[in-house]
Amino acid sequence: MPKLVIIYGTGSHNTEKMAQAIEEGARTQGIETILKNVSNADKSDLYDADAIAIGSPNYRDLMMPSVQKFLDQLAGVNLSGKIGLAFGSYGWGLEAVQAIKKQLISYGVEMIKDLCVKRMPGEEELEICRSAGSLLAGKINDKEVKCAALVIRSV
Ligand SMILES: Cc1cc2nc3c(=O)[nH]c(=O)nc-3n(C[C@H](O)[C@H](O)[C@H](O)COP(=O)(O)O)c2cc1C
Repeated sequence: MPKLVIIYGTGSHNTEKMAQAIEEGARTQGIETILKNVSNADKSDLYDADAIAIGSPNYRDLMMPSVQKFLDQLAGVNLSGKIGLAFGSYGWGLEAVQAIKKQLISYGVEMIKDLCVKRMPGEEELEICRSAGSLLAGKINDKEVKCAALVIRSV
């Protein structure tokens, strides 16, 4: 079954709410999901993921140090060809999400459009997060269908 792994940092739970809504949206597509605060995450969580969503709030124009440390640890992991999403809550700037996206691209991840919410997500923003989760899940479901078709053709 295709798998989405969502890892996030959060100070006051706004990015956490986004992460939970992304997972809710993805689950509507029937895929497997893992949702972890970065403090409980390990790079091995991503080994068999088809899609990864990494989130951080913007603090002092940067992502949270714990998220930065986690991303740096991924340098030796083969993430090439996985589908990715960078997301996070912010007050007035988008540096954290942009930096996550840039680093994941450098690892060969195919990113979909970023997801940024100002401060606490309301119902409308949560619905957008659910849609992003659903979109990610749809992309990895599609990949699986294409792979199955290739196998059928090569028999
Ligand atoms: C100490 C501190 C520094 C912050 N620095 C920034 C910043 O540089 N840029 C920005 O856009 N927002 C900044 N914010 C606002 C947070 O990004 C915003 O409150 C966000 O919703 C926090 O998300 P979280 O609840 O997931 O931690 C700052 C907030 C605090 C408390």
